[in-house]
Amino acid sequence: MNAPRHLVLVGLMGAGKTTVGELCAQRLGRAFLDTDAIIEAVTGTLVTEVFAGVGETGFRDFEREAVANACAALEPAVISCGGGAVLDPENRRRIQGAGFVVWLDAPPAVLAARVQSSHGRPLLVGSDPETTLNRLRELRHAAYEAVADAAVDTGGRTVDEVTDIVVSRFETAPAASA
Ligand code: S3P
Repeated sequence: MNAPRHLVLVGLMGAGKTTVGELCAQRLGRAFLDTDAIIEAVTGTLVTEVFAGVGETGFRDFEREAVANACAALEPAVISCGGGAVLDPENRRRIQGAGFVVWLDAPPAVLAARVQSSHGRPLLVGSDPETTLNRLRELRHAAYEAVADAAVDTGGRTVDEVTDIVVSRFETAPAASA
């Protein structure tokens, strides 16, 4: 049996993975799976509390499980991966093998304006969000590029515009990228 062809969204905090992912799922008539939400369901607590309790390393262990579970979903779904999931080679392999992968990108200033507060985003606590997002983008852009079948610049675009582009790229993608 062929693996289900998921639509997987990756990108930094503030890229719009959850908002756009939910809309894509509605449009495609699919379930929406979010690795942060899976971690919160498994641990019974918030991402911030997981970071506080077991640190980033412990969080990444939960995230690896969440990525594996989401990618193993039997029905084709739309999957949003937490911004740092691509750092792990095992996650990258699973994400690439899961279907069509879209990197939602935007300049750090745009991302920072969207996240507004560090609430629920432990990596932004106590820092200037734009500076941190700029640094994270430098560190991660090669990993996003490596897993992505398509990159969409969300800067200056509405959520509906980005959703249209993502769905259209997904629907016209050659089957080989599934
Ligand atoms: C993180 C991004 C967050 C969440 C955690 C770590 C990261 O998810 O997984 O706070 O390392 O970039 P979103 O990208 O969905 O905000």
